[in-house]
Amino acid sequence: MSILVTGGAGYIGSHTCIELLESDYDLVVLDNLSNSSVESIRRVENITGKSIKFYKADLLNRNEVEQVFIENTIEAVIHFAGLKAVGESVHKPLQYYQNNISGTIILCETMEKYGVYNMVFSSSATVYGLQQQVPLSEELPIKATNPYGRTKLMIEEILRDLYNSNNSWSIALLRYFNPVGAHPSGLIGEDPNGIPNNLIPFISQVAVGKLSCLNIFGNDYDTKDGTGIRDYIHVVDLAYGHIKALEKVLSSSGVDAYNLGTGKGYSVLEMIRSFEKASGRNIPYEIVGRRTGDIAISYADPSKAIAELKWIAKKGIKEMCEDSWRWQLHNPNGYKTETKVLRVT
Ligand code: NAD
Ligand code: UD1
Repeated sequence: MSILVTGGAGYIGSHTCIELLESDYDLVVLDNLSNSSVESIRRVENITGKSIKFYKADLLNRNEVEQVFIENTIEAVIHFAGLKAVGESVHKPLQYYQNNISGTIILCETMEKYGVYNMVFSSSATVYGLQQQVPLSEELPIKATNPYGRTKLMIEEILRDLYNSNNSWSIALLRYFNPVGAHPSGLIGEDPNGIPNNLIPFISQVAVGKLSCLNIFGNDYDTKDGTGIRDYIHVVDLAYGHIKALEKVLSSSGVDAYNLGTGKGYSVLEMIRSFEKASGRNIPYEIVGRRTGDIAISYADPSKAIAELKWIAKKGIKEMCEDSWRWQLHNPNGYKTETKVLRVT
């Protein structure tokens, strides 16, 4: 029996593959490599000393998806595959609805056909939209402010309908807060295409000298220092959350949403300071206007995941920044960088 990981070559997927292999699961990865490189899979194999069965396949191609289920006995699916850039989704909504929603429907139809009812789905804290209160807990009504967020919201609802239609389904909807950091080996990490949209990849590229200056999007929010506050979560903690969610879906049925966050919020300026300490480099910045669609404060109430999944985030911002920096320093060109160290002891 194997676990199918869609989008397993991507940032969070590749880190989750390590945790799965280290927990002795057999893995099949399906990825169309539209936002990743098969090099991440090779490095996961090097880190763990275990192999992964990889399919370069597109969720929108029903035959390719079905082939994976014909050739393997799949016990559960961890479904990461999707497009994730908020700004791009505003300009290309149909591409986002098609890829994320149609891709998920084809996946679920194939799962049903082959009698596979266990799924862990990558949702996002973006489904909370703009709320009046923090911390954000799972009972809050969900709403989205951009097409990317709406794909996550709609998929959550599709998956709830699916369970209502057939109680054999067992689904965990994982609402990630702000994933950052990298595997401590420095061999895998986030490899954004072009200029990064998110804070930590941007800071990393300033620190390594690829970009000259960080723009801080507003210092007039009602927060401790005026800059935006987020719940940054180390990607290794996040990856481990998938192991705990998988254990839950394999041992019960139902559909449940879980926040995966630390419950702590840090400002942009605090993250800059922490990154400067971790890297020993100065991060020049400039205050500019607010970014459209940004909110002042977002952090999780993680108590449901703590109680029901027996999962808690353990790593703090020091490790997040140190591990992001190690990855950036050793891989200035992401997965295009040649690795000198292939195995970590
Ligand atoms: P990523 O882009 O690194 O990984 C997604 C992977 O899916 C990529 O390898 C891409 O090639 C693949 N993919 C996309 N469309 C596909 C398709 N049609 N068929 C097959 N493969 C396809 O992104 P990530 O940061 O690892 O995010 C993983 C998931 O978590 C996504 O669904 C994302 O929306 C969600 N998420 C991410 C964040 C974040 O900040 N990174 C936050 C909340 C939620
Ligand atoms: C963004 C997305 C969100 C998505 C998440 C994935 C937007 C509006 N939101 O969230 O939907 O789920 O990424 O991780 O794109 N910042 C700067 N300068 C920068 C970059 C960011 O000051 O160059 C600030 C932002 O204003 C924010 C904080 O840093 O206060 C974090 O930003 P970011 O990493 O982009 O994450 P989110 O905005 O939380």
